[in-house]
Amino acid sequence: MTKEQKHNSDSGTAEDTKPTTSSNDKAGSPGASTFGFETILGKLVVDNGLVTQEELSECTSLLQDAEGNATGHTLGDVLVNHQFVTRRQLDRLQTDFDTRKSTQRIQGYRIIRKLGAGAMATVFLAQQESLDRPVAIKVLPKKFSENEDFLERFYKEGRAAAKLNDANIVQAYDVGQSGEYHYFVMEYVDGDTVYEQIVEKKQLSEQEALPIIRQVAQALQHAHKVGFIHRDIKPKNIMIANNGDVKLADLGLARAVDDAEAAEAEAGRAYGTPYYISPEQIRGKKEITPAADIYGLGATLYHMVTGKVPFSGKNPSDVMHRHLKEDLVPPDHLNSSLSAGFSQVIEMMMAKDVSQRYQNASDLIEDLDAVVSGRSPQYAQPTLDFAKLAEVAKATSSDAPMQQSEAKPGGSDLSSMLLPMLIGSGVLNIILLVLWLLSLK
Ligand SMILES: Nc1ncnc2c1ncn2[C@@H]1O[C@H](COP(=O)(O)OP(=O)(O)O)[C@@H](O)[C@H]1O
Ligand SMILES: [Mg+2]
Repeated sequence: MTKEQKHNSDSGTAEDTKPTTSSNDKAGSPGASTFGFETILGKLVVDNGLVTQEELSECTSLLQDAEGNATGHTLGDVLVNHQFVTRRQLDRLQTDFDTRKSTQRIQGYRIIRKLGAGAMATVFLAQQESLDRPVAIKVLPKKFSENEDFLERFYKEGRAAAKLNDANIVQAYDVGQSGEYHYFVMEYVDGDTVYEQIVEKKQLSEQEALPIIRQVAQALQHAHKVGFIHRDIKPKNIMIANNGDVKLADLGLARAVDDAEAAEAEAGRAYGTPYYISPEQIRGKKEITPAADIYGLGATLYHMVTGKVPFSGKNPSDVMHRHLKEDLVPPDHLNSSLSAGFSQVIEMMMAKDVSQRYQNASDLIEDLDAVVSGRSPQYAQPTLDFAKLAEVAKATSSDAPMQQSEAKPGGSDLSSMLLPMLIGSGVLNIILLVLWLLSLK
């Protein structure tokens, strides 16, 4: 399966199910665009691996009756009715077709092919004609043209992002409008995303993950310093170029909706946003700090080295609820080859309470470097594993009963010592009080 096919097959969103006939309406010639789409639909479904050439021939033969007269059905209808594609996949193909057609005309750029699609946009590889270089162009769906607040932020942040310059950040080049579409032009990264690496390897080792995360932490250090908070750190936004460089994508891309709503919009998509969103973003806090990005990076790292998202659930709301309430299974419980220090760093990155988390990327980098060089992290401290303590205490009690009270802090032996101490100090207080009263006389 190619990268594009993977994206097409997993990118069904609520948005995809809307009818996609607006380009017909605009042209004033109902059916014109559908006709264009119909003529290339056969090639699209075969190219996308949805049907074989033989199945396509079978479907096209059904467009005519026994006498050779047109049945009035479209190829799309036949493909859906015979369950070769779902209505959602068909709508998605139509949307891509419309978007691509309209973006053929972005002044100064020649569209080459689609690179991928997320919940919010489609990304194309294009050639910037003036500088003769490949670029990636992110095209927003038409509905964004109607949201003036969003567009204002999109352009403002796009311009600001273009001033950011860091080896670990996908360079922003340009923002603009072509017809009803708004777009964002950026550096093209020839390579994979961390998402693809997880799919391929299932689980990355500590040694593989550390340099990747360190480079993203460096990108964040730079971005946070100049006031940018990413808000959407996830495996699909971390790109790994073929030469090994790690680049953080989508920095400074404004969102039309708040974080929790955007996460909900990813309903049904594996590896969607809710898996990496911070508790404070879920709560819709107005003040989002750099620590939100550290949580997202922690959740991404957790997924990389355990092969599992930190919290999963039956729907995005369920996942988000768990981010807020459920205790994290320590990563070294899922992958016993992880060092204790590394596991502690991930847990601190994912602390639910912002004040317990790394406050900035510099502290995180210090701890990552400590782990790399085999030292204990400075900021992340071991958490008390009460289940383990109880086990140790039990084992110790059967081996060496004399050490019982040391192995069970807060246990019954400690309280039996505390009680006389408290009573003793109370009696002492009373004696001192009486002496003081006597001295006043
Ligand atoms: N600058 C880029 N260079 C190369 N490919 C890119 C670039 N930006 C995005 N992509 C590809 O396009 C896909 C869709 O990107 P996007 O719309 O940001 O959604 P998401 O980040 O949710 O995947 C990405 O997963 C990635 O494969
Ligand atoms: Mg992205």
